[in-house]
Formats: sequence, structure tokens, C-alpha cells
Amino acid sequence: MRALTVRPLQRGSLAVATVPEPEAGEGELLVEGVAIGVCGTDKEIVRGDYGWAPPGSDRLVLGHESLGRVLEAPAGSDLAEGDLVAGVVRRPDPVPCGACAHDEWDMCRNGRYTERGIKELDGYGSQRWTVPEKYAVRVAAHLGLAGVLMEPTSVVAKAWEQVERVGERAWFEPERVLVTGAGPIGLLAAMIGVQRGLDVHVLDLVDDGPKPGLVRDLGATYHHSSVEEVAKAARPDVVLEATGVGSLVFDAITATTPYGVVCLTGVSSTGRTLPIDAGGLNRELVLENDAVIGSVNANTRHYRAAADALAAADLDWLERLITRRVPLERAARAFEASEEDVKVVITLT
Ligand code: BGC
Repeated sequence: MRALTVRPLQRGSLAVATVPEPEAGEGELLVEGVAIGVCGTDKEIVRGDYGWAPPGSDRLVLGHESLGRVLEAPAGSDLAEGDLVAGVVRRPDPVPCGACAHDEWDMCRNGRYTERGIKELDGYGSQRWTVPEKYAVRVAAHLGLAGVLMEPTSVVAKAWEQVERVGERAWFEPERVLVTGAGPIGLLAAMIGVQRGLDVHVLDLVDDGPKPGLVRDLGATYHHSSVEEVAKAARPDVVLEATGVGSLVFDAITATTPYGVVCLTGVSSTGRTLPIDAGGLNRELVLENDAVIGSVNANTRHYRAAADALAAADLDWLERLITRRVPLERAARAFEASEEDVKVVITLT
């Protein structure tokens, strides 16, 4: 069968290759790959800046945003042939640390977790793949290809859960949220914000292309000014930062009302320095009881929340997030940047 592979840390090594057919072990599903989504992490891996091959191999099968159709399920499984599923990305570290021992691998303390398609485990970018039943999540059948949005939605479902839990340390009834960045993570975070009945504001650089319309059709407000200006008008109780751009991150931290919660989800590149007023920043955080948290990855609780959020969403709107579909054999094209892109997917069948 064919799979999308890369030699981690080697730029230009992306290749569609023939790899052995997988065999489902005990308690595992055999799944036909339908599609994978492409995100910033995949681009980083393809650029040769990130990623680890499985031990003993020099190639990694790419793909952590998965969608597949069950071919074979173990006896007694809740899943059956034909069901749409997404595979969970992360696996607990081998020790395991306390968080991993409690199935909260997204909060792993020792960094020895593994991740499919990213860190030491082959990903889901192949025509067939296997997955332990425990790490497969059902995707509502009516979603079809839009079910490939499960993994990024799980990441924002976790972010929202974290915001809520941090907010709950005192009285907390947020009304307004600012989402910085209208990429897939920002848009899906905005979608969940609207589903929660919040007044949602989304800020991005562009004033054309699909993003402004996508935000408006959610019932949210689109902005393309500065964080400072939007914050003055919108007075957000919560900021969900989804760009990872250093200057925006610091602007976001000071953009909230008192008792604000800022959740950072963008994985930025390192090595860029910024002059900041550290004292002023500290003063504001302290005097306002503000909280700034980072959030990465997701556990099964968050995938289930994501499945519910996607099932409740407007399907036409979700489908508009998928701006380009590239067949596996031409997968390299999925990594060419285009201004009109929101989510690019690679189809596997
Ligand atoms: C993925 C996460 C993963 C992180 C770090 C992100 O792109 O969505 O699941 O934990 O990269 O590898």
C-alpha cells in the first residue's frame, strides 16, 4: 500500500512510498485511510525542522489529523465495519508519569510521550492503518470528509476545557472572547465559543479570502486591526491565541478584562526576541488576577467533546474550512502555501 513518508529532520525528503500492509493485533481496528489534514506541525516536519522516526527506522509515516473507515473491528467492539473514525495522536510515555497513568497523556510530565505522525510512531497518512480500539474515536457519519477536522477540534476542545477549569478558581461567567488567528484552530475555537453562547471576536491579518466570511457566518465578529484596538472595543474575558506570533502573544496577554484567562495554543518557532515591559506585564497580571496558560494536544475526553461539537456544527460551514483536497500521489502540493487556504487535506482513497 502507499503512504506519505518523510525522513525526519531532512528537508526535501517527503515521498509517497510503498510500505507493508498493516495487520491488526489483538484489540486493534483495521482502518481504511480516508484523509489526513495538513497543519503547521506537518509543514515543520516536511521542512526538516521537527519530527522523529520510529526507533529502528529512518522514515516516518506522516499524518496526525486522521479520518478513516473501519474495515475490521475486534469482537465485542462498539465500532463496526463502515464506521468513520479518527485516531488519537498521542500515546502515554513508557514510565508512565502520573498524568499518563491517568490517561491524561496530553499533560505528560516527562516528555517521553509518543505521537503518531510526529514523534516515534508512524502516522495515519497511509491507505490502511491500525489503531488500538482505545485510541479510536467515532466520527458522526453525516460529517463525511469534514470528519478530518476531529484532531484540530480536539485541540481546541481541550483549550476551552482548560479555560473553564482555570476560570472556575473564582466566580466566572465569561461573555466575550477574542480569538487571535483565523486559521483552522482559531476558526474551530470560535465555532465552539459560539456554541457556548459567547460573543466571539476573531482577529486576523487578512481582509479578503475565505476567513472574514467564515467568521461572519458563525455569527461572530471579524477584525483585521490590532489586538489593542479590538480589545478596547470588545473587552474580552477570554483570549484564545492561535497564531503563536510572539508580539501578538504578548499583546493578547494584556488584552483581557480583569480576571481574564489567556490560553496559548500556537506552537511558535524559537529564536526571535522582543523588547517587552516585563514589570508592566507582571503588574497587570498580578493586579488583575489574570491567568495565562499553554495548551497542547488532547486526550480521549477532548476527542469526545470534539465529536459532539462537530456533530452539532453546520456541515456546510465545516466543509468550507476544507479549501483544498490533494490526492495522496500528489501530496507535495498540499505543502505549497496558498493565500486562499484554510485547511488542506490529503485524500487517501
Ligand atoms: C498536534 C498535537 C501535538 C503537537 C506537538 C500539534 O500540531 O495537533 O497533537 O501534540 O503538534 O507535537
